[in-house]
Amino acid sequence: MSGEEPQPASCELCGPPIDLGSPGVLSIRHAAPGDERVLDALYGELEPGDLTKRFFTGGKPGEHFLEGWVNLEPSGGLCLLVELATSDTRRVIAEAGFAPLDDGDAELGITVAPGHRGWTGPWLLDVLMAHASAAGIENMQALVKTANRPMLDIIRHRGCARFDDSDWETTRVTMSTDGHTPAWPPDSARPRILIESPRSRPDTARRAREQGGTILICGGFGKKGSHCPLDDDQRCPLIEGADAVVIDRRGVGDTDEIRASIALTHPDANVTIVDPPSADLPARQQPLDLHVEQAGHIEETEHVEDIGP
Ligand SMILES: CC(C)(COP(=O)(O)OP(=O)(O)OC[C@H]1O[C@@H](n2cnc3c(N)ncnc32)[C@H](O)[C@@H]1OP(=O)(O)O)[C@@H](O)C(=O)NCCC(=O)NCCS
Repeated sequence: MSGEEPQPASCELCGPPIDLGSPGVLSIRHAAPGDERVLDALYGELEPGDLTKRFFTGGKPGEHFLEGWVNLEPSGGLCLLVELATSDTRRVIAEAGFAPLDDGDAELGITVAPGHRGWTGPWLLDVLMAHASAAGIENMQALVKTANRPMLDIIRHRGCARFDDSDWETTRVTMSTDGHTPAWPPDSARPRILIESPRSRPDTARRAREQGGTILICGGFGKKGSHCPLDDDQRCPLIEGADAVVIDRRGVGDTDEIRASIALTHPDANVTIVDPPSADLPARQQPLDLHVEQAGHIEETEHVEDIGP
């Protein structure tokens, strides 16, 4: 091992090194100024497709990004590096970090070198989330290419909701840093509208968007492995913090089941059940009338008004 270079700190949350035997010893440590070079070398191993997934462009990030990413701690963020050390080499094989967002959550970035994928990503993410949670950050957001299956799989296994402001190529998701259901970003705009629908319903999201505020979409109810608290008759932080809960009748198989579950756990929640857009008007002309009732007295309407040409 070179040994001359000072090694920045690990901490208790980074966990102990893992001895893999002949491949070497894996350890996680905090990145620090001076790590730009090792980070640049890690990104240099990525194919253009992976660079696009990580940076939304096929090129490697420049000096400005590298300097900022290894020096996130003064601004409330953090970058962790995974090192693989043998008796005479030391190499960074993965990085993950988060930077604070204006809405009170943090944004995630993560890379694992191609030859080391398989479990490194989920392991490193667990450790990063523990650091974020200890720093008082409740939710971690990530902007992910919709074609990035491995990343979306990791996120789904943790339990997540997604923001409505996604286009067809990317999706912005939110995960809880403590392994439970995410909550609303602390400083997100109101009204906060939660759409309960496992499938993409752009027309419902568009109708909700006309209310302004923030929209989150959750498809976890009744889905195996989704960690939905309603499935265990527990309160859900998303419903708890929502100004209105919209249940899309087409997206949710059994509307009675979810409404009963919400009425049981959140009797004060404001719930609207929406029907498909009427065939009489183009979908884009149909507003979503959030004429809400408390969960125990759910109002069902077609929510269609003629607003003229
Ligand atoms: C995305 C990336 C970080 C994932 O890291 P990884 O070490 O390859 O992660 P894995 O492949 O082990 O994780 C995905 C797998 O773990 C599984 N998995 C993840 N968490 C799991 C959990 N808690 N329980 C069970 N399985 C889990 C997934 O189902 C998936 O399995 P499969 O693909 O083998 O069927 C890595 O592929 C990468 O660096 N990609 C390029 C950059 C990038 O896309 N970054 C993300 C930008 S937001």
